[in-house]
Amino acid sequence: MGKGSGFGKTILFGEHFVVHGVPGIVSAIVSTADATVKKAQKGINVIDTRKGAKGYAEKKKIQQIESIERMLKAMDMDPRKVAMDIWLGGNLPGFSGLGASAASSVAIARAIAEEFSLVLADEKINDIAYEAEKAYAGNPSGIDNTAATFGGLIWFKKNLSMDSNIIEQLSIQKPVEIVIGNTGIVANTKAMVTGVGERKEKYPTKYSAIFRQAEDLTNEGRIALEKFDLPKVGELMNENHRLLQEIEVSCKELDHLVDLAIKNGAFGAKMTGGGGGGCMLALTPGKDLQKKVALAIENEGFEVLRSKIGIRKD
Ligand code: MEV
Repeated sequence: MGKGSGFGKTILFGEHFVVHGVPGIVSAIVSTADATVKKAQKGINVIDTRKGAKGYAEKKKIQQIESIERMLKAMDMDPRKVAMDIWLGGNLPGFSGLGASAASSVAIARAIAEEFSLVLADEKINDIAYEAEKAYAGNPSGIDNTAATFGGLIWFKKNLSMDSNIIEQLSIQKPVEIVIGNTGIVANTKAMVTGVGERKEKYPTKYSAIFRQAEDLTNEGRIALEKFDLPKVGELMNENHRLLQEIEVSCKELDHLVDLAIKNGAFGAKMTGGGGGGCMLALTPGKDLQKKVALAIENEGFEVLRSKIGIRKD
């Protein structure tokens, strides 16, 4: 039996903009998707036991099958000829926005490689998971699979001319507590990414001004993170949320949770990931503030994940 894992992630700066070549900053979180793969007699059978994955797994089933087929092709395997049982689990909840699809693709790719005795470097696993991500995100930037594969805190810039992307590990003074709040709405990342692309074409002047601001924000975000200026990081996250509202990827539930986090003392908050539902991220340095913000969100009936950004990968 082959085994593998992939990290969950939260985007601090630049989701959506990153698809179009603007840099983004992503942090892996300690929660992982785990997979086992065992050769079988017939077909590709998936058992998904991930927490909170009920509605999520159902809504993403067709995309999941397509992603596995894409992954096998990228590994030079014929999906019609391979028979295997795939089990998916781990402590990464199946909330939209945490990179659950990319984490599971990385986990499955690693488990397939082990079961079929393929020696694959992380760079290759990342490429395979990127192929798989196309089933979920249409035209993904590659930021999710990069975080899922390598972990850590990453500066990511998609290379639009298709050469290799810029991937830099960043380091901060110490890990910082965060709260991730889940709206409970299972979002369709592909539709959100397509929508932004369409509006960008339709309103070029408005969108190029917003995209320039997004690029400045990510650059300033990097400096603030490296200086460990957390109030500034929070302020920039709030600003990033405003830009995401302007490109119409937030929704009233996300806006509500962002406001709630700020009212309860979060240094900053924004939606994270594809939007249209899914999750928001609040920067809550220190256990006490993390607890306060998490409870405020939970008291309104929403699920949360308490985690940290900037955890060193080794
Ligand atoms: C999804 O986590 C992030 C998006 O920017 C899509 C992508 O980068 O592939 C919305």
